[in-house]
Amino acid sequence: MEIMSHSQALAGKEILITAGGTREPIDPVRYLTNRSSGKMGYALAEEAVALGASVTLISAPTALPAPRQVNAIYVESAKEMRSAVLERYNKVDVVIKAAAVADYRPLKEYDRKIKKKDDRFILELVKNPDILAELGQNKKDQILVGFAAETDELEKYAQEKVRSKNLDLLVANDVTIPGAGFAVDTNIVTLFDKDGQAEPLAIMSKKEVARRILLKIKELLSQR
Ligand code: CTP
Ligand code: CA
Repeated sequence: MEIMSHSQALAGKEILITAGGTREPIDPVRYLTNRSSGKMGYALAEEAVALGASVTLISAPTALPAPRQVNAIYVESAKEMRSAVLERYNKVDVVIKAAAVADYRPLKEYDRKIKKKDDRFILELVKNPDILAELGQNKKDQILVGFAAETDELEKYAQEKVRSKNLDLLVANDVTIPGAGFAVDTNIVTLFDKDGQAEPLAIMSKKEVARRILLKIKELLSQR
């Protein structure tokens, strides 16, 4: 019964999801990245399709196959992800930024392989654009959902991010807890609404977490 009533909960909605960890090029054979597996973002894309939404997935590299019935667009760096997202922002109802975007990129991309020479090597980094903050600044009536992986002071940082990025929902997890975060199939998250109110969820599969997030989004869409 539950499945029947939920099956078309997001019918007619255009949802943009980002996933994976961006790669920031150093030279032709090297890059900087992070521990994101893409599992949470891909689970969101699959569940959004199951709930009847039309889904675009903007994905940084992962080891995962493209979910069925999803318009998958592959990017590498934060700058590429930014262009792909901004291009589509005004045509969608919801953006879910599950991607782990590198905060910094190498100042210079070498066009030849860097050869080892000195005992120390300093790589200078510059800040990447904050894609989610930019979406928050330019928000019309989209529902904007962010993610945050923290190692301490989860509630404080989550509330700051909701406010500073103008979010409708933030999904936060403490990656130091076993069963939460990177490369595992479960997650333990707390949902923060736009007023910073916390709703902690129990440990569950990323698929179930995805469904809970999407049903929350459905609620937010119907309140608009
Ligand atoms: N994000 C983004 N662009 C960036 C950095 C982050 O769009 N350059 C998005 C992520 O996709 C995520 C949210 O912002 O949905 C929060 O990312 P997080 O790394 O937790 O927050 P930051 O603002 O980068 O702050 P910090 O890493 O210092 O905690
Ligand atoms: Ca960050």
